[in-house]
Amino acid sequence: MSRTDTLFRPVDLGKLSLKNRIVMAPMTRTFSPGNIPNDLVVDYYRRRAEGGVGLIITEGTCIDHPAASGYPNVPSFYGEEALAGWKRVVDAVHAAGGKIAPQLWHVGGIRRPGVNPGGATPGHSPSGMARPGKVTGHAMTQQDIDDVVAGFAKAAADAKRIGFDAIELHGAHGYLIDQFFWEGTNQREDGYNGDLAARSRFALEIVRAVRAAVGPDFPIIFRFSQWKQQDYSARLCETPEALGAFLTPLAEAGVDIFHCSTRRFWEPEFEGSDLNLAGWARKLTGKPAITVGSVGLNADFLPDDGTADFREAQPASIDNLLERAERDEFDLVAVGRALIANPDWANQVQAGNFAHLAAYEKEMLHKLH
Ligand code: FNR
Repeated sequence: MSRTDTLFRPVDLGKLSLKNRIVMAPMTRTFSPGNIPNDLVVDYYRRRAEGGVGLIITEGTCIDHPAASGYPNVPSFYGEEALAGWKRVVDAVHAAGGKIAPQLWHVGGIRRPGVNPGGATPGHSPSGMARPGKVTGHAMTQQDIDDVVAGFAKAAADAKRIGFDAIELHGAHGYLIDQFFWEGTNQREDGYNGDLAARSRFALEIVRAVRAAVGPDFPIIFRFSQWKQQDYSARLCETPEALGAFLTPLAEAGVDIFHCSTRRFWEPEFEGSDLNLAGWARKLTGKPAITVGSVGLNADFLPDDGTADFREAQPASIDNLLERAERDEFDLVAVGRALIANPDWANQVQAGNFAHLAAYEKEMLHKLH
């Protein structure tokens, strides 16, 4: 038995059976000209599946709505050509023994200048996040809301139809769904604003519509975060009670797995307990949870040649991760940047070949390897 076996046992999460607990975190890569995933994208995901990842969550891919996309060359999740491209990604990942879910995305009020500018930009109501270089949209009408809900449902049904194993809803990081959750950005004056339960109404409508579109047996993953665009101190839920009240209705609406986005997996979420955000989500809802944040970016994982961008050592160590896995603090662990640097990260870690792992460097984002 190897030291890391606890991460590499098959795991059965009800609707989703995986060969191990390693997930590729969703990462926007902007390598889809015309918003169509091409051969380079197929090979990029194929390499991670061949490299041993149990479940790939794709880069955010935009639902069919005029304001869903905020960045150039992000793949769409609608239209014959884009879906055909995604089907080739799915087939390549399956042939390599992996599973894959698209991350369905609507950016809301956050977009690069020049991408769907001005009036075609329904977002949230007057935004607390307006800042230079960002365009703030007009408040969404009820029609906008209904269209977006239908857009998510259609995308989820298409994901199932073309062979994806699950879908992930991007409810994190200050994009559209999260803009409704957060007081700082939801300034509506209707039934979509109020306390956090009321601000969750939009997300709940999406989850229910998606569930109705995919049927009872298709897994729905929901990604959420406490932090918001560039505001890492933001907190959606200050207490475990508030987190439970936030997540429970989402679980009841049809979420199967919570993807709990944090920047460092080892950080306790609330005072008085060592549990991280995934640990709390799991404990409060009884649903499986994915942890994430700086896995593999520390000295324990990397050759000591000074190239790692993160060197706090012990808290970030493989031992810390394994201990948390062994006490079931999380079901799955998502890995982002370490998998950009090392397509075969999972296989190398399973084999204990830590010295073979390359350090992540920002320049690696300039091409799709
Ligand atoms: C991201 N992240 C991200 N998250 C998300 O929900 N949707 C996305 O499209 C993206 N895009 C993205 C691009 C790039 C280049 C990076 C590095 C990150 C966040 C990502 O999923 C993950 O949560 C963080 O990177 C933390 O994990 P690591 O990298 O520390 O393992």
